[in-house]
Amino acid sequence: MSILFETMKIGRLRLRNRFVRSATYDGCADKYGHVTEKQIHLFEELARGGVGLIVSGIASVHPSGRISAFQNIVSDDSAIPGLKKLVHAANAHGAGIALQLFHGGRESAVYQKHRKSEAVAPSVVANDPYCDLEYRTMMEDKIIEVIGAFGDAAVRAREAGFDAVQVHGAHAYLPSLFLSPFTNLRTDAWGGSPEKRLRFLHEIYKDIRTKVGDDYPVMIKIGVADGFPEGLQFSEGKTAAVRCAEWGFDAIEISQGLRGKRYSQTEFRTKIKGPDQEGYFRPWCRQIKEAVKVPVMVVGGLRSFGMMEEVIRNRDADYISLCRPLIREPDMIGRWEKGEGGTPSCVSCNLCFEALLKGISLHCAYESSISLRRSRSDSI
Ligand SMILES: Cc1cc2nc3c(=O)[nH]c(=O)nc-3n(C[C@H](O)[C@H](O)[C@H](O)COP(=O)(O)O)c2cc1C
Repeated sequence: MSILFETMKIGRLRLRNRFVRSATYDGCADKYGHVTEKQIHLFEELARGGVGLIVSGIASVHPSGRISAFQNIVSDDSAIPGLKKLVHAANAHGAGIALQLFHGGRESAVYQKHRKSEAVAPSVVANDPYCDLEYRTMMEDKIIEVIGAFGDAAVRAREAGFDAVQVHGAHAYLPSLFLSPFTNLRTDAWGGSPEKRLRFLHEIYKDIRTKVGDDYPVMIKIGVADGFPEGLQFSEGKTAAVRCAEWGFDAIEISQGLRGKRYSQTEFRTKIKGPDQEGYFRPWCRQIKEAVKVPVMVVGGLRSFGMMEEVIRNRDADYISLCRPLIREPDMIGRWEKGEGGTPSCVSCNLCFEALLKGISLHCAYESSISLRRSRSDSI
């Protein structure tokens, strides 16, 4: 049997293999942010397809952090009945399921404006070449309120039956904005030194842990470097990841922080044509895995089965986390387990992501858009 199909544990959570469906926004929630039949079907399909752990898409913990009208919320109790159904869809077919706890920060600006509100961030960056959104600086009372909202959301997730939660601490969203010296220009207790920029995440962790108890699995997806040279550097991001492990996060998924202007500067890179482009965050994982005792998940362009086995054998990571290949082929893991399958047919074109931005729900948009794809450049 392949090392990828060993049974695993994250805290008290038992998993049938080392495969994780990395968090994937699906744009399928109803107008209240509640779970729909379409999502239940999607999660059932993934769980039947053999993945060990499914991380949900971004679930908004606070109204100020909601990014889309089609996004799930976990900011009040009305979401719990639907979330219970999602848990059942995964667990009934042998998969574990975690809810991803999310606040969009300034990235929520368009949706917030639509609901006549303003997006928030640690500070406003003047003449930011990477962001032309309108947003305002968070007052301290708002910071405290949002931290509490993460904890309350984790309690709701536990009540709905989720096996774990994952804090979204990457990709230009609120915790990532606090961590980066490029977007956190505060001079109070929430900004300045690396430790002060990390404080927001630490308080979120403590609030969640106090509210859900010691034995509930609490994970993080952390952006350990920004996608452009003036941003967060890996040396500092690595320390942040190590701190997360020391505080008590039960597993750490390694990704990037703020996005640059091109796909090559984001967490979802294109042009993955061979082993040299595969597993683009693997070097970061290796260094972090050496320094922590908790399980590490590698995400980002993992495509060939042989390389995934090698990542584990080499102790660069403990889990293989996949997003785009499972949009196209949700049954891929099960086929690999049966010895069928080969390399995923996902071409990492990101048309799935671009369709979501237009309000079209999650699907592999490659087949229907081959001609469109040919005319596209590498810019977002
Ligand atoms: C359509 C789409 C939706 C995504 N939604 C989320 C999300 O909700 N939360 C998150 O942390 N990452 C999200 N990501 C990033 C993925 O989880 C993953 O980190 C990235 O795509 C790299 O992995 P891959 O090469 O296996 O796709 C999304 C990516 C895509 C393409």
